Amino acid sequence: MSWRRYCATAPEAQGAGEAFARVLRPGDIVLLSGTLGAGKTTFVQGVAKGLGVLDRVTSPTFTLVREHACENDLGITTLHHADVYRINTLDEVLDLALGELVEESGVAIVEWGDLAATLFGRDVFTIEFDVDQSEGRMLSVDGALAAQRADELDAWGQR
Ligand SMILES: Nc1ncnc2c1ncn2[C@@H]1O[C@H](COP(=O)(O)OP(=O)(O)O)[C@@H](O)[C@H]1O
Ligand SMILES: [Mg+2]
Repeated sequence: MSWRRYCATAPEAQGAGEAFARVLRPGDIVLLSGTLGAGKTTFVQGVAKGLGVLDRVTSPTFTLVREHACENDLGITTLHHADVYRINTLDEVLDLALGELVEESGVAIVEWGDLAATLFGRDVFTIEFDVDQSEGRMLSVDGALAAQRADELDAWGQR
């Protein structure tokens, strides 16, 4: 089962992220896939807004993981934002211990997360970003967690 939402512009992609934050619960992991420039970081900026992150969210390409404190009514206190694009081996991803890093009150969003999907060993959301000819992005949400949040996702996108 998957949900799609078309974003014609970057602000629309941020809006999609902000709305997606309402689907999240403490402990969730979200894996993003799509080419360089597909809009993954842009989407995370929207999620951060939806979670009540106050500091600025930029690409964690060189730091690999950034933690942002957040304030919201969802019980989520930390957003862990990772980008594993520059990681060379799966061992390096394992070293990040992202699964363990997401304590009970945090959520993790991982750019290029499809590269590491098998490492998480628990139910996740996957979001794929496809760029079309007019520079719009089609976002497709899938994964075992998505199936469990069907009602919430119906408010977010189209089945
Ligand atoms: N519809 C759209 N959705 C998302 N980003 C868009 C869109 N149209 C243009 N952009 C631009 O594309 C770039 C996407 O970059 P970014 O979010 O960093 O991608 P990624 O993290 O996937 O490499 C940004 O400059 C953003 O403003
Ligand atoms: Mg990025």
